[in-house]
Amino acid sequence: MNDDKLDSLTEVLAGARRIAVLTGAGISAESGVPTFRGKDGLWRQYRAETLATPEAFERDPTLVWQWYDWRRGLIAPVVPNPGHRVLAAWQDLFEDIAVITQNVDGLHEKAGSRNVVELHGNIWKVRCTREGTVSESLLTPLPEIPPRCPDCGALLRPHIVWFGEALDASLLERAFALSETCQVMFAVGTSAVVQPAASLPCAAGRAGAKVVEINLEPTPLTRSADIFLRGKAGDILPLIDRRLRENMRAGGRDVPPGP
Ligand code: OAD
Repeated sequence: MNDDKLDSLTEVLAGARRIAVLTGAGISAESGVPTFRGKDGLWRQYRAETLATPEAFERDPTLVWQWYDWRRGLIAPVVPNPGHRVLAAWQDLFEDIAVITQNVDGLHEKAGSRNVVELHGNIWKVRCTREGTVSESLLTPLPEIPPRCPDCGALLRPHIVWFGEALDASLLERAFALSETCQVMFAVGTSAVVQPAASLPCAAGRAGAKVVEINLEPTPLTRSADIFLRGKAGDILPLIDRRLRENMRAGGRDVPPGP
């Protein structure tokens, strides 16, 4: 990575207290979780309309659950990578850091991030289609497909936002509030094409934040980002972290060693 870019980023971060980070499938790719639109992306192999829509679930809940059960099996053994770990460790460096994620794998919490907004839900949660109650479901493979609510017997569905569904309004409101009040917003490993998440970095930029994008390739966001860092999140975030800590120490601040 270009050293000048790293310098200007550390300068931007030096005075920042409030950070927001929007993450997408790319940050979990190095942990072994498939992305959606990349070379081996899920939407290259499967049709979203037959697996990730309310209509698909109505038509064939068994098929939809088999697909989610397979994905849960893929994600179960996976652990956070250095990208997730750096974001969790930044809780020691910044007064306020929030992670807004489109990922449903739960890896940010596993890494230790405490302020996480899961915009698209969580694959380890299920929701009763009758009562709307949300509960944890950690067994994989599932003992029964499709699973049913232990309280009322109705079908359970994955607690995930499907195509054509609205996001939870209060989570979305929180995500916009975090984006519009932060001083630096990172967009990490997202193709920035799925709305409304893709609008968050733009909202941050309009409100005066510096927008920093980390991705293997340019996206529709790149043109409006203040700094674009091309590469793997699991390489670039640790690089930024090391430089940031060096600078803080040089400025007399007592900072713990990095993750
Ligand atoms: P995508 O699969 O659309 O995009 C992944 C992005 O990560 C691409 O821009 C890649 O270039 C980049 N990338 C891949 N590996 C990377 C790495 N190691 N480091 C940095 N960048 C990397 O995933 P999302 O943008 O998250 O929705 O997709 C958004 C939503 O679309 C998902 O949440 C999902 C999907 O349909 C739901 O399931 C509701």
